[in-house]
Amino acid sequence: MNKRFLLTLCAVVSFGVPLLAGGGTISKDIPLYKQPSASTDMRVADLLSRMTLEEKVLQLSQYIVGLNTNVNNTGEVNTGLPDGVGSYIYFSGDAKLRNALQRKAMENTRLGIPILFGFDVIHGFRTIYPIPLAQGCSWNPELVGELSAIAARESRMSGTDWTFSPMIDVARDGRWGRVAEGYGEDPYTNAVMGVAAVKGYQGDTLSSKANVAACLKHFAGYGRSEGGRDYTATDVSRQSLWETYLPPYEACIKAGAATVMSAFNDISGTPATANCYLLTEVLKKRWHYQGFVVSDWNAVQQLIPQGVAANRKEAARKAFSAGLDMDMKDDCFREHLTSLVAEGKIDEKEIDESVARVLRLKFQLGLFENPYTPVYEDSERILRAEDKEVAARMAQESMVLLKNDNSLLPLKKGMTMAVIGPMAKDKENLLGSWKAHGRAEDAESIYEGLEKEFGRHTRLLYAKGCDFDGNDTSLFAEASSVASQADVVILCLGEKSAWSGENASRSTIALPCIQEQLATELYKTGTPVVILLSNGRPLELARLAQQCDAMLEMWQPGIAGGTPLARILSGSVNPSGKLCITFPFASGQIPIYYNERQSSRPDQGKYQDIPTTPMYDFAYGLSYTTFSYGALRASSAAIQKSGKVRVEVPVTNTGNMDGYETVHWFVSDPYCTISRPQKELKHFEKRFLKKGETALFTFDIEPQKDFSYIDETGNRFLEEGDYYVIVKDQKVNIEIK
Ligand code: BGC
Repeated sequence: MNKRFLLTLCAVVSFGVPLLAGGGTISKDIPLYKQPSASTDMRVADLLSRMTLEEKVLQLSQYIVGLNTNVNNTGEVNTGLPDGVGSYIYFSGDAKLRNALQRKAMENTRLGIPILFGFDVIHGFRTIYPIPLAQGCSWNPELVGELSAIAARESRMSGTDWTFSPMIDVARDGRWGRVAEGYGEDPYTNAVMGVAAVKGYQGDTLSSKANVAACLKHFAGYGRSEGGRDYTATDVSRQSLWETYLPPYEACIKAGAATVMSAFNDISGTPATANCYLLTEVLKKRWHYQGFVVSDWNAVQQLIPQGVAANRKEAARKAFSAGLDMDMKDDCFREHLTSLVAEGKIDEKEIDESVARVLRLKFQLGLFENPYTPVYEDSERILRAEDKEVAARMAQESMVLLKNDNSLLPLKKGMTMAVIGPMAKDKENLLGSWKAHGRAEDAESIYEGLEKEFGRHTRLLYAKGCDFDGNDTSLFAEASSVASQADVVILCLGEKSAWSGENASRSTIALPCIQEQLATELYKTGTPVVILLSNGRPLELARLAQQCDAMLEMWQPGIAGGTPLARILSGSVNPSGKLCITFPFASGQIPIYYNERQSSRPDQGKYQDIPTTPMYDFAYGLSYTTFSYGALRASSAAIQKSGKVRVEVPVTNTGNMDGYETVHWFVSDPYCTISRPQKELKHFEKRFLKKGETALFTFDIEPQKDFSYIDETGNRFLEEGDYYVIVKDQKVNIEIK
């Protein structure tokens, strides 16, 4: 037995790590790290023991390759790189380039360590489905999981092993463009949907040809963006961190998320990239996280403009020492970590620990055994009919009916419809931001969906009316004339894809004036107006709501939006989406969210010029049927801290159409050592009820989990006293003794 092998074995045994992964034998003639029958920990230890410091540092470095489609970072390229790097952001749409680069790493480098290929697959790889904010409004985590699994399959079969998703940043400011990328304003919703996405991406085993590693981002507090401006410094108290921003991360880490991305933002004086408290104290020590942390794009170098590093070397030292494992794109680690070790400023053992984290994932993904991606036929790899069907289901379940005066919707067949507006025939902007390899040509427009659903029975007229912005009103007259000839106007408004997502902040969340003016003109014709909205953020709708009879939020539904939308308009589908983010009355109300703390004078302090309540609340959404809620009941009125209580409410579909209803269960603690949010979502359930059917919705409460509060040190406490469980306008009191 050679000496290195023996040493590794001894080290491994003394750490109590199992020798064999599963029943195989170990050969002494092949390096241990190349033997799949050895356990991952053994293989990592063996490989590490063979690596030079330079080789180790290379594993902690990520570069970009392929045609860079990140509009915020265009023009940046990495050139002159050695053959084996830790990771690439892989902009290419198929596996060919990957395989060529991988071959160089496997064959031209001393140890043959495979490269990890990552990409932003945020809401689909090629089969683009609704943006995450829309997904949140479906209240259907199973469907989020199914879609994530489809994205994973398309990605892995196209050469991407790792997605920079899900984003689980609680976001309460609609001016922030990245509000589109997460699941809204509530910590619990982000946690549930984030866990569903992680499980969907990663499946049962990362080594499967259909799964990818997930990356939780952006750790942490990025959603707190001041004034909705991207990349700004944030002021996040420890209390807010623990209570609002960290819970989704903790839940997703427990669910096994493979990696984490640190955020761009400065948090009360310490940028997330160099934040030892977050990256080491909380993530690695307190939560015992075994995965690795990658920086955001160029974020190590950005410690210089953020004012905590004088130069790139100091930036590398601060980020690495704080607990960052991989440097995305800016090359500060490769440039400086080796000399920082030589100067004694960083201990090589710490480098080893970070490298071990990266290597572990490469082993788990099976990259040492299967470094190359087979080149599949497109028909097998992307846009499969059954996958588009799932995307359409999510589109259908995520659309939110905001207004429906006099039951204008569903529309009767045989009507003449005037389909008007900049979004009516548009495809590109239905895809939303971060569309990965999505293409407009794959998408179905609103107009096409209407033709398909209503076609034979309905006459469709069309006018563009105006552009998305600008002040050209020259098409208004034609649009009004078309509207006058119709029985109903379908006015298709919204945002361009580039108006939300990264680096896409807006000072107001109203649609551009020209679109509101068009609505006013059309409403004047007297023809009933249905407004359809496709956008990547909550909107300011107070004025538009007065210029229509019905209004439907369809979000950016991806490639399969036209038909689901048309099926909702025709009534073959009953809308069931409910908002996962508050729609303010006016941009000036921001930030406004359902779970804020109580004011000292609840009846005073209101805006003098606008209402203080939002336009549409969190969890708001109409249906074509009516649901009536029976009495809310608890199985006991008082329980011990360790006890359990079931709360239930019967819900009856009292209308004329089958449909889904989601029941949201909130908890409130009116008196506590620290003040608590007025109410907090703790559970939700969505069920299908046939007309006339009654279903019993239940919430099994565990006080330690559902009633306790978390303090600024991250510790949980459960106090005695009264708690309320709230469903709609009912509440039931439970005493903890
Ligand atoms: C974004 C990340 C993204 C990364 C890689 C950054 O600009 O903030 O969310 O994952 O780029 O594309």
